[in-house]
Amino acid sequence: MTEPVLSVRDLRVEFVTRRGVLKAIDGVSFDIAKGEVLGVVGESGAGKSVTGSAIIGLIDPPGRIAGGEIWLSGSRIDNLPPEEMRKVRGKRIGMIFQDPLTSLNPLYRIGEQLVETIQTHTDLSASAARRRAIELLAEVGIPAPERRIDGYPHEFSGGMRQRVVIALALCAEPELIIADEPTTALDVSVQAQIIALLKRLGRERGTAIMLITHDMGVIAETADRVAVMYAGRIAEIGPVRDVVQNPLHPYARGLMGAIPTLAQDADRLVQIPGSMPRLSAIPPGCPFHPRCPHAWERCTVDRPAPLPHGASQVACHLYDRNDPTAEAHQRMTHPPAEEGVAA
Ligand SMILES: Nc1ncnc2c1ncn2[C@@H]1O[C@H](COP(=O)(O)OP(=O)(O)O)[C@@H](O)[C@H]1O
Ligand SMILES: [Mg+2]
Repeated sequence: MTEPVLSVRDLRVEFVTRRGVLKAIDGVSFDIAKGEVLGVVGESGAGKSVTGSAIIGLIDPPGRIAGGEIWLSGSRIDNLPPEEMRKVRGKRIGMIFQDPLTSLNPLYRIGEQLVETIQTHTDLSASAARRRAIELLAEVGIPAPERRIDGYPHEFSGGMRQRVVIALALCAEPELIIADEPTTALDVSVQAQIIALLKRLGRERGTAIMLITHDMGVIAETADRVAVMYAGRIAEIGPVRDVVQNPLHPYARGLMGAIPTLAQDADRLVQIPGSMPRLSAIPPGCPFHPRCPHAWERCTVDRPAPLPHGASQVACHLYDRNDPTAEAHQRMTHPPAEEGVAA
């Protein structure tokens, strides 16, 4: 077994508010291997971005990492001093956000930004760094890069700008790229190109990629493995084929069924009644139990730990082989509790 590029162990992130301590991330563990794309999905507020921010050391007060460990290629990074972490960010971890203008300074030509970043991370001369920048622009599919390098961010379309951001992330040859909804702001046709680009770069360079999105279509096309998040926890994680085509967790089943483009047959189009709980009202036991058609008493009190199932892990008592009643509950369904009952 080779060491994973990223290893997150029992991560917990809290926000301290006037209403108390809110647990945004509560015991999340996963690995990403070299060259692997891990897709992270889940409804808005599930904790996807907070998980990404924790990995890159950008949880600001009133938020804090309250527990767990984050390892990057065998070295622990969650307890580094801020200036050390700043070096890890950018050098060893690249970031791509929804809005390319988060990463690009509108006042500088893109070449200046690329050259500066390259020179921060290598000992290349200015002219060599410029040649390298042109190569990177070509690699991410910018046409006529030797001319475009002198353009300003506003002279690029949204999709081309996101390509520039990807080139910027690649300048330091990072081990890990965290892409948080990188295509959400783009046209559908451009989305596919950007996703294909990310996937190719991951393969060719061996970069590990954490791809956060609420778009199951993107996941199905790009990810090697998928983590389904719910209320700050991982409900299910496993190979993309298994999780998308044969989800185990009732929440994951609902989520996959709720994606029209992926649901070939109408009977998969199940909507999940209710909504994800607010952080101040996460129910005890399994946080999904008020919405779960299979939930029984145990689910209301006993928090499910991730259980191995095939090549996946699923945090659901239905898959507990030591529970003699679990199988019967698989077959049993009842309408979920009224929304708000848990609050
Ligand atoms: N600065 C903050 N203060 C308080 N709560 C926050 C803060 N940032 C995020 N949260 C909460 O953490 C939870 C997870 O948010 P987030 O990771 O952004 O979700 P998503 O899965 O949509 O990316 C949400 O309930 C959100 O309201
Ligand atoms: Mg988010």
